[in-house]
Amino acid sequence: MKTIIEPFKIKAVEPIRFTTRAERERILDEAGHNVFLVHADDVLIDLLTDSGVAAMSAEQWAGIMRGDESYAGSKSFYRFEEAVRNVTGMERVIPTHQGRAAEKILFTVLGGEGKAFAANTFFDTTRANIEFAGSEAVDLLTDTGRKPEVRADFKGDVDLDALDRFIDERGAENVPFVMLTVTNNSGGGQPVSMKNIRETRELCDRRGVSLFLDACRFAENAYFIKTREPGYADKSLLEIAREMFSHADGATMSAKKDALVNIGGFLALRSEELATRCRNLLIVTEGFPTYGGLAGRDLEAIAQGLEEVLDERYLAYRVRSVEYLGEKLVAAGVPIIEPPGGHAIYIDAKRFAPHIPVEEFPGQAVVAALYLEGGVRGVEIGGVMFGKNDAGGNYVPPPMELVRLAIPRRVYTQSHIDYVVEVVLETFAKREALRGYEIVEEAPMLRHFTARFRRK
Ligand code: F0G
Repeated sequence: MKTIIEPFKIKAVEPIRFTTRAERERILDEAGHNVFLVHADDVLIDLLTDSGVAAMSAEQWAGIMRGDESYAGSKSFYRFEEAVRNVTGMERVIPTHQGRAAEKILFTVLGGEGKAFAANTFFDTTRANIEFAGSEAVDLLTDTGRKPEVRADFKGDVDLDALDRFIDERGAENVPFVMLTVTNNSGGGQPVSMKNIRETRELCDRRGVSLFLDACRFAENAYFIKTREPGYADKSLLEIAREMFSHADGATMSAKKDALVNIGGFLALRSEELATRCRNLLIVTEGFPTYGGLAGRDLEAIAQGLEEVLDERYLAYRVRSVEYLGEKLVAAGVPIIEPPGGHAIYIDAKRFAPHIPVEEFPGQAVVAALYLEGGVRGVEIGGVMFGKNDAGGNYVPPPMELVRLAIPRRVYTQSHIDYVVEVVLETFAKREALRGYEIVEEAPMLRHFTARFRRK
């Protein structure tokens, strides 16, 4: 087999800025050691996120010019609506300015005191929106999914027995829906199998509970099903995606991931009654239902992106480029979540820097070190993001301390990735010198975005 190459050539380029180590020391210091507070221009390879950072295609840019900016009933809305219906099979399509806006609307409508939601793993904004609505968010990932070193095909699967018990404990009337995050971002970008989606649906049917997908990375999930799950090799990615959505009553989507755009999202629903309640709120917070916080041109770009993302060559290249980075790191002994996920590599910071206790945020230490070593920006997904204090003020760490290196779609080439490998390996070689951190300033919610740190 020949090398899997980028299935595109590059039409426009954007220079990246090189800095010295001394400059990066100063920059990081000024940013309170939080890479969210570092100017992007001071970053060489930006793996902070794969969200909103895709390179759009010539066709998407052409769509930007075609965008119809009518306030109501824009042509671009109808193209967008058709594209979403085509993939999801859901009739009610509500545009939002990004994924969390869809979440905010949905959980405001269905959440509230006494309600509880369960998922394989909720992403941080999803959890925050549930909690903000006064409800509880519970993650019920399988045991296999919780073990970074275990290689398995579908580590994003939800634990069905735990889910059944959860519905028993809370009472089905208090569980508005179960959510499957495909792929499971916070758990390593790991896919959910069709079998697990189907069985979750069956369980939800038995218990009278709805099922929603957090569909941000539905196409990457579909590709894993095609290549890993028996019976799907000969199905098209569109067929697989449709089958995934066919089991759900609704979906939230951040178009900034698998719709290959820089901004946008949507809520797709089957129930007209629920859609009406969501649209009523949308008008207050986002905009009229045919634009929902977006420009007509954005809707065009999303419609086009939803088609391009299901191209088999694109997904083969996409998944392979992440796997390539993972392979090189594993070969050098760097501990990562195995196998590599769809959009990112997750370094296991507990094994990378075992001398740093979880109270001192080993993931944060690795993130800072990667930036200092080579201007590579990753993100901590561990205690800074998910750590909590219990009622007695004791620190409760999350189960994993990870550093995510997320790969923007269609942005970096193989030599960029080779450079990242070099930076990680250099940092790994010097890992014993890494020091932990303490937080000196933090916000009450989603503290990782703005917290400032002091090195121990
Ligand atoms: N759900 C998942 C699984 C996500 O990964 C994200 C965003 C959202 C919901 C929210 O979407 O950003 O459009 O409001 N994830 C980004 C990330 C921020 O870096 O993983 P949004």
